[in-house]
Amino acid sequence: MQMTGNTILVTGGGTGIGRGLAEALHRLGNQVVIAGRRIEPLREVADANPGIHYLSLHQGDAADIRRFAIELTDNHPDLNVIVNNAGIQRVEDLVGGGPGAAAQTIAINLLGPIRLTAALLQRLLGKPHAAILNVTSGLAFMPSALTPTYCATKAALHSYTQSLRFQLRETGVQVIEIIPPHVQTALQGDRGFDPRAMPLDDYITETITLLRTQPQAEEIIVERVKGFRFAERDGAYDEIYPAFNQAMIAALGR
Ligand SMILES: NC(=O)c1ccc[n+]([C@@H]2O[C@H](COP(=O)([O-])OP(=O)(O)OC[C@H]3O[C@@H](n4cnc5c(N)ncnc54)[C@H](OP(=O)(O)O)[C@@H]3O)[C@@H](O)[C@H]2O)c1
Repeated sequence: MQMTGNTILVTGGGTGIGRGLAEALHRLGNQVVIAGRRIEPLREVADANPGIHYLSLHQGDAADIRRFAIELTDNHPDLNVIVNNAGIQRVEDLVGGGPGAAAQTIAINLLGPIRLTAALLQRLLGKPHAAILNVTSGLAFMPSALTPTYCATKAALHSYTQSLRFQLRETGVQVIEIIPPHVQTALQGDRGFDPRAMPLDDYITETITLLRTQPQAEEIIVERVKGFRFAERDGAYDEIYPAFNQAMIAALGR
């Protein structure tokens, strides 16, 4: 990926990883547009970083994605990079709780990036240095049983990203998967600020360094997530999966 001179959409750019990536990419000399449901965090980022623009987006709503895509490309016709970062994570009790947040999680985390990519792809084709960056998770490769649908959406987005990359192989649109480890954000409510999680600034710095030093990388894999990403390849999955999930249950007192 070229690291400067782009016009970049970052969904979920008002908080957490999206905010960190948006601010870092802005500092590198890109036009950055952030999007999310709540206007207040978006405005706060724009105020703190003059030049960052923001738009409202309800990524779980197909009609709003269509409305958003028109507004975005009307206002920012040079758009050439999308960072599909917005997402939610919900704990689900499959035994006593029924389907819970499954439909909402699939709509936001999986259908959201699929629909948004479809709505914007024609505008990206032919644009110089075009790229689509999909944020999945280490949990795509080592699922946490506490958040089953979340992990399923991230595994599905990993698969979809591979297909998208293959179908776009002759177009010049680069497709990159960003695979975060557990990072200190509000994604998991209070649990997210677990001191054992990776500090957000460290995660953003390592991610931007990898994007810059490995411009052709298909996956951005920081050191902290390599154990999960490569567990199956390395024959460690069967050992890590139960230990990880027991530790998660113990940490939550379930
Ligand atoms: N933190 C981690 O440990 C971790 C690990 C692996 C992967 N990730 C992934 O990283 C991405 C960013 O998460 P984060 O950790 O930075 O948590 P976060 O701070 O909660 O960020 C999630 C962002 O998504 C936006 N969002 C949620 N639902 C939306 C919707 N329906 N429409 C539009 N925007 C929506 C939120 O803004 P609004 O609520 O205002 O809409 C928020 O800005 C997610 O895809 C997450 O799965 C995080």
